[in-house]
Amino acid sequence: EAIEKGGFEHFMLKEIFEQPRSVKDCFRGRVNADEGHLVLGGLREYLDDIAKSERIVIVACGTSWHAGLVAEYIFEELARIPVEVEYASEFRYRNPIIKEGDVVLAISQSGETMDTLAAIELAKSRGAIILGICNVVGSSIPRITHAGAYTHAGPEIGVASTKAFTAQVSVLTLMAIAVARKKGNLHEDTFRRFLFELERIPDKIEKVLKNADKVKEISELFKDARNFIYLGRGLNFPVALEGALKLKEISYIHAEGYPAAEMKHGPIALIDEDMPVVFIATRDQSYEKVVSNIQEVKARKGKVIAVVTEGDKLIPTMADHVVEIPVTHEVLMPLLSVIPLQLLSYYIAVMRGCNVDQPRNLAKSVTVE
Ligand code: AGP
Repeated sequence: EAIEKGGFEHFMLKEIFEQPRSVKDCFRGRVNADEGHLVLGGLREYLDDIAKSERIVIVACGTSWHAGLVAEYIFEELARIPVEVEYASEFRYRNPIIKEGDVVLAISQSGETMDTLAAIELAKSRGAIILGICNVVGSSIPRITHAGAYTHAGPEIGVASTKAFTAQVSVLTLMAIAVARKKGNLHEDTFRRFLFELERIPDKIEKVLKNADKVKEISELFKDARNFIYLGRGLNFPVALEGALKLKEISYIHAEGYPAAEMKHGPIALIDEDMPVVFIATRDQSYEKVVSNIQEVKARKGKVIAVVTEGDKLIPTMADHVVEIPVTHEVLMPLLSVIPLQLLSYYIAVMRGCNVDQPRNLAKSVTVE
């Protein structure tokens, strides 16, 4: 087992540090900026159907559902196709409105999640086109979908999903760009710029990982907290949800993810000097708004940990702790901003003496209802 962990103390840490490579593997043969090409072989035949579809319904659970929420923003922004993201377990039990030719996209690391499988069967019985994004080659979901794309993240052993999430977001981003292009929504220059930026993502992840010690120091200060709030807007909202899920799963600390603007509708009542609030506050169109949300938390003496874009001069003057990530296209930011959150949950869980790779009550794939 020590050999399999490749010198890391836990599989989860190994998998977090593997992300520059796993994202590169996911792009291999699919993205080539020099030649200006983007191919997703497994989906090629269905690209037309997706481009013509009136909506896309995504079904997934847990972290895969969060990847679906990221995809909702990207698809709607670039491809201008409405996306609905459904918990597979809810979808399958409420007589969903699915008609012949609708596109249903299932996302699953294991490819064995019972609720997701059942949701697919239901959508299939109503004539939908079923696409899948999975990590485990030859698992049940890829076998029952019409087409799909593998994430190629390699085996994920830690129960808390890390590299599978970034690989899912990577494939979904490629898919959204390919569909946007097919629809004629992307100018050639914008398309080329995306390819160029995508190829730089693995190095940028590597750079984020260089901040691991900084995240470890922050973890030491907050390891005894009883609650955490994670806030983000736009694409960073699903990242906030994912950060909170990671912390809950492996450290057993109660954590809530919220869209930052929703704070004033309730969660703000929770804020006092004992409440750590993690902001994903990268430079994007909602930056100024997030800055105001940080001020609101500080005015109530909350402790702010902020993930910011490199070179940010303002937020470091307000937040208690900051972790920088490199600049990239706004749409690609989740691939970087989630990494410090994975590390934060990992270090806190280790410091609390928790079984990081096999947290209590959880299984790697949930094959029961
Ligand atoms: C993530 O850290 C989880 N352990 C869990 O939420 C998982 O993402 C969910 O059960 C879905 O699994 P799948 O991707 O294999 O379908």
